[in-house]
Amino acid sequence: MEKLASAADLIGKRRPERPVRGLRPHAAGRAARWFLEKFPGDVAYAYKANNSAFLIGALYGAGIRHFDVASLPEIEDAVTIPEAHLHFMHPVKSRHAIRRAYELGVRSFALDGEDELDKIIEETGGARDLLLWVRIAVPAINSRIPLERKFGVSGQKAANLLIKTRQAASELGLTFHVGSQTTTPDAFVTALADLHKLIVKAGVMIDRLDVGGGFPSHYPDSDPAPMDDFMETILAEIETLPVKENIRLMCEPGRALVAEAESLIVRVDARRGHDLYINDGSYGMLFDAAHLSFIFPMRIVNREINPSEPLVPLELWGPTCDSIDYMKGPFMLPASTAEGDYFEIGNMGAYGRAIAGHFNGYGDYDEAILLDEPMMSMYATNVVQVRSAQR
Ligand SMILES: Cc1ncc(COP(=O)(O)O)c(C=O)c1O
Repeated sequence: MEKLASAADLIGKRRPERPVRGLRPHAAGRAARWFLEKFPGDVAYAYKANNSAFLIGALYGAGIRHFDVASLPEIEDAVTIPEAHLHFMHPVKSRHAIRRAYELGVRSFALDGEDELDKIIEETGGARDLLLWVRIAVPAINSRIPLERKFGVSGQKAANLLIKTRQAASELGLTFHVGSQTTTPDAFVTALADLHKLIVKAGVMIDRLDVGGGFPSHYPDSDPAPMDDFMETILAEIETLPVKENIRLMCEPGRALVAEAESLIVRVDARRGHDLYINDGSYGMLFDAAHLSFIFPMRIVNREINPSEPLVPLELWGPTCDSIDYMKGPFMLPASTAEGDYFEIGNMGAYGRAIAGHFNGYGDYDEAILLDEPMMSMYATNVVQVRSAQR
């Protein structure tokens, strides 16, 4: 893939018709190195966040060997990665997916009910080599995408499930997810305090503990606590748990490893007042902007903008004929933004590419590797967070 200095360099050379995914593998590598250095356990990349071979290659190059996978297609993909340890962390799986995963070498499975435990035992032929994770429901605190309503078990039911799972598991683990884009570490404190009570109630030996994903990235309307605070708080709380001294830990970051590592570069096809019509949208990589009100950093890349030019709040419309294809924002761009301009939308690496579909004949992208720094960063100290949207 072509390597270019920046999105501005790319637009100067190409003037692309299609939207462009600008990859920054070096940013994924840096995030992975940070986690591997600071977290004293297995760092499992949540494969669903972004399956670009370039980003996964960068994570692998940095030392990532564990992967949280949530479907059979993800397993069939990830199983080709040398020395990969796959953890099938979706709490509800089809019987076929369990059977096939086991045939492909997966030994690590999550569950949150006795029905799922029975399925796993039956479909693996009563295997004695399973690492079984019981997913606990924990409250979402300051998280953008709470996950607690769909999965997780709690209270007496959780204690009973732990006791039953202990009988079937070679190793027993506890897992939870505080919700994606959690901006303060107290969510982890509350979750681990709940786990503390549960371990006492169930009275079973726990071999592993997975603190899940949910670690944040930077966005113009979201200024999370520093990543060091998350790690220090989590590790201090784990110290207080009634578990083995040498309990094996895991975390499953998705967003925090790849958000900074991909930009989207779009073109303005029309401007009508405060409405910009652009060549990607909610059916493409901007799902989170449309449906979860994410605000991403943006900058014009086809021409120099005078730093004193005011920014104005703009709304975005995607290329399809559907009026749901709308991103309300407000997105702050220079007042002079006009038809024919290209702008870079940064920190799109988590769940942007992963969700994009092909509605209305759209959904194809050009790609390039960009060598400059991301527009906002949790890890790089030399990044000037771009002058962009503030709500
Ligand atoms: C089980 C599990 N682990 C990890 C993740 C990654 O979460 P995040 O991208 O918020 O770190 C998810 C996301 O939905 C998940 O469902």
